[in-house]
Parts: sequence; structure tokens; C-alpha cells
Amino acid sequence: MATMKILYSQQFRFCIGLIYLSLAMKPVCAQQAHNDMDRFVSELMSRMTIEEKIGQLNLVTAGEAVTGSVVSTDVESKIKEGKIGGIFSMSTPQRIRAAQELAVNHSRLKIPIIFGMDVIHGYKTMFPIPLGLAASWDMELIQETARIAAMEASADGLNWTFSPMVDISRDARWGRISEGSGEDTYLGSRIAEAMVRGYQGDDLAAHNTLMACVKHFALYGAAEAGRDYNTTDMSLHRMYNEYLPPYKAAIDAGAGSVMTAFNDINGVPATANKWLMTDVLRNQWGFTGFVVTDYTAVNELIDHGLGDLQEVSARSLKAGVEMDMVGEGFLTTLKRSVEEGKVSVADIDRACRLVLEAKYKLGLFEDPFRYCDDSRAREVILNSAHLAKAREAAGKSFVLLKNDRQVLPLKKQGTVALIGPLANTGTNMPGTWSVSADLENTPSLLEGMRDALGNQVKIVHHHGSNLLEDAAYQERATMFGRTIPRDERPEQEVIAEALAVAGQADVIIAALGESSEMSGESSSRTDIGIPTVQQRLLAKLLETGKPVVLVLFTGRPLTLTWENEHVPAILNVWFGGTETGKAVADVLFGDVNPSGKLPATFPQHVGQVPLYYSHKNTGRPLADGQWFQKFRSNYLDVSNDPLYPFGYGLSYTTFTYDQMELSAEQLHQAGSLQVRVTVKNTGKYAGEEVVQLYIRDLVGSVTRPVKELKGFRKIRLEPGESQQVVFDITAEDLKFYDAELNYVAEPGEFSVFVGPNSRDVQEKKFILVD
Ligand code: BGC
Repeated sequence: MATMKILYSQQFRFCIGLIYLSLAMKPVCAQQAHNDMDRFVSELMSRMTIEEKIGQLNLVTAGEAVTGSVVSTDVESKIKEGKIGGIFSMSTPQRIRAAQELAVNHSRLKIPIIFGMDVIHGYKTMFPIPLGLAASWDMELIQETARIAAMEASADGLNWTFSPMVDISRDARWGRISEGSGEDTYLGSRIAEAMVRGYQGDDLAAHNTLMACVKHFALYGAAEAGRDYNTTDMSLHRMYNEYLPPYKAAIDAGAGSVMTAFNDINGVPATANKWLMTDVLRNQWGFTGFVVTDYTAVNELIDHGLGDLQEVSARSLKAGVEMDMVGEGFLTTLKRSVEEGKVSVADIDRACRLVLEAKYKLGLFEDPFRYCDDSRAREVILNSAHLAKAREAAGKSFVLLKNDRQVLPLKKQGTVALIGPLANTGTNMPGTWSVSADLENTPSLLEGMRDALGNQVKIVHHHGSNLLEDAAYQERATMFGRTIPRDERPEQEVIAEALAVAGQADVIIAALGESSEMSGESSSRTDIGIPTVQQRLLAKLLETGKPVVLVLFTGRPLTLTWENEHVPAILNVWFGGTETGKAVADVLFGDVNPSGKLPATFPQHVGQVPLYYSHKNTGRPLADGQWFQKFRSNYLDVSNDPLYPFGYGLSYTTFTYDQMELSAEQLHQAGSLQVRVTVKNTGKYAGEEVVQLYIRDLVGSVTRPVKELKGFRKIRLEPGESQQVVFDITAEDLKFYDAELNYVAEPGEFSVFVGPNSRDVQEKKFILVD
């Protein structure tokens, strides 16, 4: 370690100095700093053997299986032999320090290891699942959650996170819709940028930032039939306009790395897709970081049908991939491929250089232990400021779907019955992809609510039903320690007991929905309703005649048609993280007014999926106000409408929108046009509203969506207060990729819409002129 420091510190200080200077005298000094890094890495590489270079491309786990069956072996000896470039899913300063010591004291060239982890929505302080965070439409808040995650994880020795996940998904059957920002290109892009900024800050080498990894490149969220890992086949036009922009936004925000997707894209799996990894990512977008595969994705190319391990490893490297996660195809075959002329030394050099550059940017050559700091870990992890932010974020992620006769907010008095299989399970509160969460010490909804409410409200509780009727299904849905105990007595007996508990209360809160592992990886569903055993419980609770509030746990849009018809109040809380219980109490009892808006459409029926607001018009759209017309685009049995549209969410207060105004009827290519609307809080509570702006290109050289989100503002208004919201529209907002993939704004007529969600909007028209 000491030798190591002396070896690099001089050059490094010089370089850091240059970086600081470069902030003041940008282009010249940035170039200088880059040249310096270049020299450093070239010098190091000149001393590396081909085996050592290939070793840098190898990413392993700490010696266990993480998200697949393949296990990394002999990690310790491989580190010493210089056969490991990165390790993931290892944490604590002690363990990381020990592994890093092996690398910098016992390997020939003393090259430090990069340490990664899936820090997806928090590290120890867990924030809502990403789909929930997206529902806040609050970019500052989202950036702060990423910032806190980086502070905690970096104190624990990590320097790289496999986040943000920016895959657009319009298919609620896909379990991983929970891990992304939903269906929309524009909202998804803004969130992608916010997260990268949050993780990386403005200095990757700072001891409290993480390098981001944008995933899963690309189109993973468009898997056919919503079945995880399934094929994607998509026109270039749709890719460029709808699915690729969030990845590009993350890269433009400076993300240091990219992860390949598992899926096939138009016949070539992403992990071997040269067009995607080199033509698009490097040549068109100018990405300068490194690309890592997903878990064993190189090996899976064999099952995709692209050849044996040597063949697919060579193909993946040559496509533009730099690091191989877990499968060790690169480690075990690339040297042979070089000898046989199937891969060039230049290919290996390119990949090795990019990995070393990432380590350089992280400051690991200067101090390989800069991210291991026990005292900082104790100070920052789960500290009170972080927990307060988690409570705020959870409250802001909740979406009030229904509130008839103002059942909510509840009064802080009397007795409340909290009934349902999600009522008292702390392990399920963090939500899917919370590998680093301390599950056993996460309060359940019941515990959190009791904590928040003290003795102002008496809470009685019963589990009410099993999570799922089928025990085997329940086991699959409660893996990774998210167990929900089963009650094997006859259902009627369990319900009778729950009703007796409910009988003591003034109000019933039904905590129902999915367990956290009913969404996430390899957790696709064909039926996206609340499990029927829980629905039967809900029906019985409603029969009591007491007010019932459904507190809905879910990692995806669900079909809630029956619930919407029968339950007076529905609050969708997704999975809110560590402080779920307190945040639910805050919202149910009116200390926080809900302001979340759906980042994905909730369908009426699973058969409508994929259902999204920014669809095309078709040549046979329905006439206004009709839900069925023969020889028009519709279904016989269900209307085309969603149950809850994209952007939808209620508040305890009411907002009215005045007539919107445009500053002009024409917009010039180089000019701008203002859309103004005044929003007033006409209810009794202070509250936040997300004012949304959509645009439609009415005539184009190619067909265009019926609406596209192009702006939003989250405003806070006291009762009686008004605010004018102004959106600036320029030709940039009207651009799209045409049939030849030129990015253009075509002159002609446009509609602009403003409203509280994608359905309930006012419309005006303007013309774009040359
Ligand atoms: C997931 C990735 C994750 C990786 C490492 C894979 O199964 O698809 O999102 O980053 O495992 O844990």
C-alpha cells in the first residue's frame, strides 16, 4: 500500500491540480488532464502482460451467486494473479479493505480493484422503489436520494453502482418495471440525468461519490409479452424516438459506465451488438466510459445461439464490451482468441484502457482505500437526516388513486384496524432490489405507523389472509428473506378473526397487494390484479359498512377495476423503503398531502397491455366519446381507456386550471413560444401539483404520437393561492427522428395541452414556421 501510494501520488497530485485548474480554464486544462491520464495509463499498460490486461476485464462477485446460479470461485488467488479487475456485491470497509490489500500488495502490478454493487434506491437508508420515486416527479428529491445512497455506499467501501436503470417499459406484466421510471421517454430522461448527477456529483474522485452505470443497454423493458429476458424486436424509428433517449440523457449527464442488456435486439443480443455498443453508443453519442455486461450475459450468448464460449466472448469484446460480469468467458478464452487471430491485441488494449481510466477517474490509483472509512460509515449510514429524507421521499411517492367523500385524511382519534398480509412485514417494506438493506431492522407498516402516531390513535391489527392462495406461488413471491408467514387454517376462519378485529375500529385500513418480490427481476406476472385471496378479504371488510382505505403495495401498475368501483379510498404506496410506515401515517392522517402522479398507465384489464398514453392514432381511431365502434380500433369487451391515466394522482385539496394562453400562434425555428396557465388551490389544504405539458405534431412525414410529455412543473400552493406557470416551447421540443433518422422539427400545425394528467387537458394549437 505504502509503495503504491509513493508510486502514483506525485503524478496524481499533479493531475488533480490540473483538474481543479481545468474548472477555471476549461477546454485547455481538461485536455491537459486527459492527456495526463492517457500518459499514466499508457505507461502502466506498457508493463502489463496480455493476461494481466485480460484480468482487468474480469468482474466477479465476492465468491457467491448473486442474480444467477453461477458462482465466482478462487477469488483470492485470482486477485493475487492479477486476474480480477472488479468485484461486486461485497461491502463493509473491512472486507473491501482486505480484498483491496490483496490487489495492491500482492499482485504484480498492484492495480486497485473497482468495487460495485446494486445500489438501486438507497444503500442502507432505503428510498421508495424507482417506479415510486418517479411518481414524485421531483427531480431535486430524486437527485438527493441518489446523493445519499452514494454517501452511504461510498463510506462502506464501494465506488461503483449498477444504477440508474432507465429502461422504458409499457408492459406492467414485466416485473422489472418496478426498477425503472415507467413508460415515458421525457420523464425517464430527466430522472436518468438527476440520478447520474446524484451519484457522481461533480467529482468522481471525491471519497463520497459513486460511478454510475446506466442499464440495461438497451430496450430491456420491451421484452415480448412482458416475460423477463425475452426478445425485443423494434423499429429504429421507435428506438430512437421513444426508448433510447433516457440512456442518452444519462450519458450526456456524464455516466461513467454502461451495462449491456440480456435481450436480443432485432436478431443480435445486446451483449454482442456492435451496432449498439460501438456505432450508437461510442460513435453517435460519444460515450467515453466503459461497458460491462450483465450477469453472465456473455455466456448466455451461447444459449442465444451465437456459438461457443470462445466465439461469443470474442464477439462481445469486438462489439465494444469491456468488462465481463461473472461468467469469465473473457478470462478463459480471450488469450486463445488473440493467438488464433480472432481478436486483436488492439481490442484487448482498448478494453483494458477504458477500465483503467475508470479507476484513474475514481482516484483509486492515488489512494485505493479512499472509499473505506469506518468512522464515516458510522456517521453517515442511516443517520437521522437520511431517514428524514427517506420519510419525505416515501410520502412524495404515494399516489392517491381515489378518495370518495373525502374519506382521507383520517382524524387522529379513535381506533383504526390495520388488516392484511402486508400490514406487519418489515422485510417487504424496502421493495425489490434492496440487497444492502437491513431487512430485519426495517419497521413494518404497523410498527412505523405506531411509532409515528404514538397514543393518539389506537391501532389494532390482523393479517387477514395469506399473500397468495397457492403456497408454492407464495414461496416464489417471498424469496430473499421477504417471508410472509402462512396461515393454513380455512380461509373463512381467518377472515372471521380479522372481522372481529375490524369490528373494534372506526376505520379499516386494508394493507394489500403484492409482496416486494412479486415485482423485480424474474418476477413477471400474467395476472396483474391483487391476488384473489386478498380480494375476498377486501370484499368482506367492505361488507362491514365501515370506511375502508386500501393501502396498496405494488411494484407495477395493477388492474384495480373492481377495487376502484367498490373501495372509497385507495392510496398506492408502492414500496416506500425504510420509513414506509411513518410516511403512510403522515399521509393517511393529513400531515402530508399526497402529490404523487403515476409514471405508468394503470390498465383496466391485463389484455390491454401494452397500454400507454403516447400511442399513435391509427387510421381508424374511435370518435370522441365512443368506446366501441364497428371497424374502428378497439375491443368488444373493454374500452380503450386506462383505469388511471399516466400522470394521474389526486390530492386532499383541489386545483383549478384557468384558460391556458399562448404567447403567439406561430413559432419560428429559432424562436420560442410561451404557454401560460394559472393554477389555483381551491381546496382546504396546502398541496403540491404537477402541472404537465404535452405536445402533438398533427401532420408529419411519419406518424406521430397523440401526445408526448414535453415539460412539467411541480408547484406548491397554500389554500386560495394561485400561481402562473410558464413553459417555453422551442423547435427543440418539437424535434423527432424521421424515417431516415434525421433529428428534425417539421414545420406545420401542433397541438399543445396542459393539465393535471395526460387525460384531463386543455388544448390549443400553433404553427411551426421556417
Ligand atoms: C441484473 C442487473 C444487476 C446484475 C448484478 C443482473 O441479474 O439484471 O440489473 O445489476 O444482476 O447484480
